[in-house]
Amino acid sequence: MPPGGLGGRGTTLRPWQDRDAPALVEAWADPEVTAWSRGPDDRTLPAAQRWIEGWDERRTAGLALDLVIADPADECVGEVGLTTPAAHGTTARQRGQADEAATAGRVGLLGWWLLPRGRGRGLASSTVAGFSVWLLGDGGFSALGAAIHPDNERSILVAERAGFRRSGTAPGGELVFRLARPQGGRA
Ligand SMILES: CC(C)(COP(=O)(O)OP(=O)(O)OC[C@H]1O[C@@H](n2cnc3c(N)ncnc32)[C@H](O)[C@@H]1OP(=O)(O)O)[C@@H](O)C(=O)NCCC(=O)NCCS
Repeated sequence: MPPGGLGGRGTTLRPWQDRDAPALVEAWADPEVTAWSRGPDDRTLPAAQRWIEGWDERRTAGLALDLVIADPADECVGEVGLTTPAAHGTTARQRGQADEAATAGRVGLLGWWLLPRGRGRGLASSTVAGFSVWLLGDGGFSALGAAIHPDNERSILVAERAGFRRSGTAPGGELVFRLARPQGGRA
């Protein structure tokens, strides 16, 4: 876990809590979020509560680190989430490759969203930048990636402002951005 207070521009990063479920439902229903990211089939309040209940299990299993971007009143205004390769593979072979990659290099994939009331203030850019520095330092990751639809201009700007650079195109057409730990040092 990153140290408390690691956010940016007045925000903090913290674990998901039961009381955040309505904000998650709001995000799952937001046209911008649904346009650019794959949400679950079930977007109801009970589904959000179940997803939040699984937060710590995903973290301790090394599958994901999903954190709330909280405003000064400690209310959820967005999310930044890290998934590891182990979370992506579905076949035994993919899982084997993922485990190998995770052990060899500890590469993580980042995603993010803001609720409409959190947008337009640099909160995503500053949070992704701060979280990435921590992940590549004390978090022990060697590189981070982000896959973004080429038309998602606002998210591309977030990645670039946080220091990510374009490194290729995924088979599905998404632009791949990457940020690596500088040789012999921290990000
Ligand atoms: C992607 C998303 C998080 C970007 O939100 P955002 O508020 O534009 O992101 P930022 O935190 O970078 O803020 C940038 C805005 O804050 C403004 N800003 C103010 N102070 C700023 C500062 N110090 N630093 C950077 N930007 C600042 C910028 O001018 C910009 O506003 P503008 O575009 O109106 O000019 C948001 O559009 C979203 O949730 N989209 C849906 C989900 C999504 O696409 N997720 C990514 C999937 S890959």
